[in-house]
Amino acid sequence: MKLKGLILSGGTGTRLRPITHTSAKQLVPVANKPVLFYGIEALRDAGIEDIGIIVGDTAAEIEETVGDGSRWDVRITYIPQEAPLGLAHAVLTAEPFLGDDSFVMYLGDNLLRDGISDLVATFVNNRPDALILLQEVPNPEAYGVAECDDDVVVRLVEKPSEPKSNLALVGIYMFTPLIHQCAREIKPSARGELEITDAIQCLIDKGKRVEPHVVEGWWKDTGKLEDMLEANRLILDALEGDIRGTVLESEIHGRVVIEEGASVSSCTVRGPVIIGKRAVVHDSYIGPYTSIDCDVEIRNSEIEHSIILAQSKVIDLRGRMEGSLIGKNVRILRLDHKPRAYRFMVGDNSWIGIV
Ligand code: TTP
Repeated sequence: MKLKGLILSGGTGTRLRPITHTSAKQLVPVANKPVLFYGIEALRDAGIEDIGIIVGDTAAEIEETVGDGSRWDVRITYIPQEAPLGLAHAVLTAEPFLGDDSFVMYLGDNLLRDGISDLVATFVNNRPDALILLQEVPNPEAYGVAECDDDVVVRLVEKPSEPKSNLALVGIYMFTPLIHQCAREIKPSARGELEITDAIQCLIDKGKRVEPHVVEGWWKDTGKLEDMLEANRLILDALEGDIRGTVLESEIHGRVVIEEGASVSSCTVRGPVIIGKRAVVHDSYIGPYTSIDCDVEIRNSEIEHSIILAQSKVIDLRGRMEGSLIGKNVRILRLDHKPRAYRFMVGDNSWIGIV
């Protein structure tokens, strides 16, 4: 069976503003690698070579960063979506690319520890009309929830106030071309989107077989700050230490990656931590679950459980920074001149916590 991949990398990303004012949320690095790359690798590892990527306003940045797929030995086709009108709308937009092939649909801001090879194997063996990934969650009322009977899904309910199961829909699905007809039949939801849950419910209502696949390993949707930091923690938890940069008069504990050209001096670094190429870290404490991207400069500061994007500077911070996501080319400095006052130049929808 020939399978294609469809990665959704459009959307508006309102929950990750201000980062998404200037950049695609799917390109925010987790352990210094864009979230989207993990999805491409998951598809490649499952043997899928033909991948369509749905793009929206951030198309140019995504195409420039991802390229034609040759670095993963896959073929990538970019599919512009006129507006983020819903996941089922994205499927309809991709119909000319997908044709009569079955496909994996993967939300570009999702991470799945164990990849999708198992799921693809189950789909190829059982040949259901659709297969959806589910995970047991403690708060199903916040998710799309599946009700199952034996080995089939009988109903999907979006954010139910009284959930009948604790099985939430994970952002990864497998479809046969039957989904296109259903995506055409459904109407926009109250929030104005063509919902994939409605399209799948339409399959069920037509008597088609939709199978559940419960994932055991962790799954993370990185659409908001806490989840992005949590994803960073989970990925760094599996990090293996590797020091290629220069280390001078520093204590390095645990699993730490220091990439080529980076320099760490007079520091304590407690892993898991990754420090990117050409970063300069001096006279500082870098604590667990911190990802510092390329060309960042950190001096006389303490940082943990945070993500710092490329080219930013954190200098002479008196308190410790934690649980933070710092965008690209940000400067956090101590100023000497009078009057002694806070000075901010902060983009729309940012937030700052001070002690
Ligand atoms: P969401 O995170 O549900 O939506 P969003 O990106 O608009 O974010 P927010 O709710 O914070 O405003 O989307 C899941 C993934 O699917 C994400 O990678 C964006 C992508 N997407 C599309 O490509 N097209 C769409 O029409 C929608 C709704 C999402």
